[in-house]
Amino acid sequence: MPYYSDELIEQVRSANDIVNVISDYVRLQKKGSTHFGLCPFHNEKSPSFSVSQAKQMYYCFGCGAGGNVITFLMQYENYTFQEALQELAQRAGIELPKQEMSARARHEADKRARILEVNKTAAKYFYAQLRMEQGQNAMRYFINRGLGTETLKKFGLGYANKYSDDLYRYLRKQGYEDELLKDSGLVTIDERRGGRDKFWNRVMFPIMDVNHRVIGFGGRVMGEGEPKYLNSPETMVFDKSRSLYGLHLAKSTRKPYILLCEGYMDVIALHQAGFDNAVASLGTSFTAGHANLLKRYTKEVYCTFDSDGAGVKAALRALPLLKEAGITAKIVRMGQYKDPDEFLKSEGADAYQRRIDEAQNSFLFEIEMLEQEYDLDDPEGKTAFYNAVARRILAFEEELERDNYIEAVAKKYQTGFENLRSLVLHQGTRSGLTRESRPLKSGRSEKKKKEDGMKQSQRLMLTWLIEEPGLFAQVSPYLGPEDFTEELYQKAARMVFSQYREDRPNPAGIISMFPEEGQQREIASLFNARLKEELAPAEKEKALWETVIRLKENSISVRSRHLQPTDMEGLQEIIAQKKDLQKLRRLKHV
Ligand code: UTP
Ligand code: MN
Repeated sequence: MPYYSDELIEQVRSANDIVNVISDYVRLQKKGSTHFGLCPFHNEKSPSFSVSQAKQMYYCFGCGAGGNVITFLMQYENYTFQEALQELAQRAGIELPKQEMSARARHEADKRARILEVNKTAAKYFYAQLRMEQGQNAMRYFINRGLGTETLKKFGLGYANKYSDDLYRYLRKQGYEDELLKDSGLVTIDERRGGRDKFWNRVMFPIMDVNHRVIGFGGRVMGEGEPKYLNSPETMVFDKSRSLYGLHLAKSTRKPYILLCEGYMDVIALHQAGFDNAVASLGTSFTAGHANLLKRYTKEVYCTFDSDGAGVKAALRALPLLKEAGITAKIVRMGQYKDPDEFLKSEGADAYQRRIDEAQNSFLFEIEMLEQEYDLDDPEGKTAFYNAVARRILAFEEELERDNYIEAVAKKYQTGFENLRSLVLHQGTRSGLTRESRPLKSGRSEKKKKEDGMKQSQRLMLTWLIEEPGLFAQVSPYLGPEDFTEELYQKAARMVFSQYREDRPNPAGIISMFPEEGQQREIASLFNARLKEELAPAEKEKALWETVIRLKENSISVRSRHLQPTDMEGLQEIIAQKKDLQKLRRLKHV
């Protein structure tokens, strides 16, 4: 991966005016100093997507999407940081330094490119065959399964005809050599019999990566037969544990979640029914690689696996992997129907949407499946079940979360909340998972609220400092970056303060110091806290100093908490700061 210096990144970023770039994607209207438009990252009717020329940042007050011009392209085009930078460099006519590839790397890259080319040629060939006379049966098969012309086209579906070396001969005629064809996985080369196609007399499903390149194929028998689906082997361009069927389309959905299913036909049927956010793992079970791939595009996944035992097993396997990747998962239950394809055929899209709306929390699903391993009519079985549930509830770190699940499980199984809670505590002390058996109290949520309030104050201050450069001189004698106790906020504050000392603030530049999209988004939100516009100057002055004092109090109390008992110097400093704070209070009358 090429590495670019901070200076170069900043040069490219500042050469691209954000209003200019975003205007190519979103229709913007100027209101005061800010441009507004409909947010491209969530569905909305009235514009809450703002672009500031002064700050060179965008921020959506509806969904919280935000960042600088680089983030925008990363989010909109799903580019990596490097790709976004390359695009912007090109726009501005800036030449980026090229990294020298080793001979070996160059050879591999070349090979990959040629395999992709073979795949594309084969996909076109299959596509054309489906539409010719020899493809009539295959076409009838697709039509009988309810696929429309548009869908066939959208998924590039095709047909491998019944001759077992037809594709091989075609590709040879196009000039591709045996060695390459073998590496593409489309052909096997036999010493005596020569080339033989992997796929014949099957309907064909090309598999695309997120950049719409054909990386492999699935082929289904038309009717009964074994194996039902045949898939390309893994090749230099096809890593099954990192590819998801349909993701090239689903990645641009407007929906905030992804539907994860098991089969090719499920994905296709869902897309045809308007669920343009469906993907499937391919003839392999779901892996951590899949979860990480999905994480790039969504925070929430609805599993809509087959309702049979294998589907349940697949779901139980996928859930922890999704959770591990930081994705929230829910389970869509389809009752008597085998898979989404069948459900849609019998019940239709509206009914399916209702199933989505009613989707089950993944933990409760896991508990429900766990239940089947116990005999709840037997007192011993019942006790064992509740103990198993209690152990699982213990896995949640947050007390509040544990309480919520205890409540949900208690309700579902009509057992007492307190009973279940003491069982959880008991399990916790037994396994040493909870250090103290302090009763699970609701005090936590109060504390959490206070923390959120403090974060909000720190954000507000950062926004103020950026929006009104005049404030820095007033505030900086009292407030330093170390008073921003949230780690990420403190980093941002350090940069803002040092930018002020050197020149003037450049929030968009700060954003590109954070290569990860999630962080960029959070930094953008820091500089875009909602300011109460309607405040009169005197009120605003008061609010400003109240915020300064709140930040100061908080940072002093955080520091006293972490003070080592032997650190006399630290103690003196805290005392001095407390005095300063008193003085400031009197001075500003707050
Ligand atoms: P299913 O057997 O559930 O098939 O396999 P399906 O998707 O419902 O297919 P239709 O509706 O009968 O056409 C689910 C997925 O498992 C993989 C394929 O990716 C399939 O879509 N699979 C299944 C194979 O790779 N090989 C097989 O022989 C069967
Ligand atoms: Mn099916």
